[in-house]
Amino acid sequence: MSFRSFAGSLFILLTLSARADSSLPAMRVLRDECIGCHKPGKAKGGLILNTREKMLKGGDNGPSVVPGKAADSLLLQVLARDNDPHMPPKKQLDPAAAAAVQAWINEGAVWNASVFDELPAVQPVTLTAMPASYQPVLAIALSPDEKSLAVARANILCVYDLTKPGRPLDQHLGGHTEAIQSLAWSPDGKWLATGGFRCLKVWDVSTWREVKNLGSSLVGNITALAFAQDNTTLFASDGQPGVSGFIHRIAFEEGKILATWKAHEDTIYGLRLSPDGKSLASGAADKLAKLWNTADGKLIAFYEGHTNHVLAVAFNKDATQLATASADKEVKVWGVSSREQEVMLGDKKVVYTALAWTPDGAALVTTTEKGGGSIYRELVRHTGDQRSDTAKEQKLEGVNQMLYCVAITKDAKTIFAGAHDGTVYLWNGSGRSAGKIVER
Ligand code: HEC
Repeated sequence: MSFRSFAGSLFILLTLSARADSSLPAMRVLRDECIGCHKPGKAKGGLILNTREKMLKGGDNGPSVVPGKAADSLLLQVLARDNDPHMPPKKQLDPAAAAAVQAWINEGAVWNASVFDELPAVQPVTLTAMPASYQPVLAIALSPDEKSLAVARANILCVYDLTKPGRPLDQHLGGHTEAIQSLAWSPDGKWLATGGFRCLKVWDVSTWREVKNLGSSLVGNITALAFAQDNTTLFASDGQPGVSGFIHRIAFEEGKILATWKAHEDTIYGLRLSPDGKSLASGAADKLAKLWNTADGKLIAFYEGHTNHVLAVAFNKDATQLATASADKEVKVWGVSSREQEVMLGDKKVVYTALAWTPDGAALVTTTEKGGGSIYRELVRHTGDQRSDTAKEQKLEGVNQMLYCVAITKDAKTIFAGAHDGTVYLWNGSGRSAGKIVER
């Protein structure tokens, strides 16, 4: 049964990584009780505890840990009930936690960063019914043959037949209890994955049956999905807002999580596979975009420069450039290996919510929270401070609805965007309105 084996493999994964290591219990105390106030950007008492170097360097009162000597370590002293200051400030750690920290320091305070990759314990939640008026289209995806458009409208998966006049509704599929946040077709077009709150389903496109239901052991919303080129491996992101964004590599047919890593400090909004399948880009609320090796989940690069949430990422045709759309009202195009901002797009007046790049790299389309967007062609690399001729830009005719997601055909002749009112709006390749798809 898929769910059981999925949960089982997750358990094995966590137990394997936790094998006999005394540093884990102590570092979990730091992670769960301390780092919230002792991290870059929020270093209370001048102390940062998210790396061993910073921990040893200490805060306003000098080194916080003397490896091998717990009694001489400020980090242990502050845990004592009557110490001033007392840590954590408004709480007394249970004696086992303090003992773990003490033993760990005495054993040399060996750093084990794998605790930061552990999934938090899944908290039970009670779901309430979604209001009927809430019908946003949070995700859309064109099938690889461009004959079908999958649309996530609130908790319903709708599939439209693009080959017929009027683009009729072909499938109307329930099963998600919460809004569907993410969609992805496998490259061979045989599978469609949908992600929602702790819920990841894979549909067999030939029968439209739900063949896998994964994710009850996932932590939060499955905010982004990407299939690998083998059609059987799926990358999915989830996490806890403000705390973590995890990427899971999943063999969906076996219902097995192959790997999980903490990729960001906050919600991941975008995941895209490079055209050669070797790397995976992620963009998140922690303002960063990152590039991962798909084979081993190792970080290849990160792209730092946005000042607010990164809401979408997209590669150009040969993955030499990565575009990012952000709540900071900018769209940036980065040199993937130089890590530099090569092109600056966007008018700094409106939040850019989604991105799609045609496979030949000729057109990059973005949508905005105000119901507009742009098609950019012939991007010019940024030299100096000149912002005037960055690309040829054609604006999408506005629709006066928040747009969440976008897709573009390979020939760049049709653009689809999902809106807050439940409609999918269409434009032609020069940005002219070209109709809309309503529910039925
Ligand atoms: C709610 C926020 C908060 C949490 C959680 C917290 N601290 Fe602190 N910490 C502070 C503040 C504020 C100070 C500065 C206190 C002062 O100087 O009076 C501080 C100071 C310290 C210092 C002294 C640093 C120096 O050099 O002056 C140490 C050591 C320390 N904390 C360790 C910890 C440990 C270990 C934990 C977890 C068990 C922890 N803190 C959890 C807020 C926090």
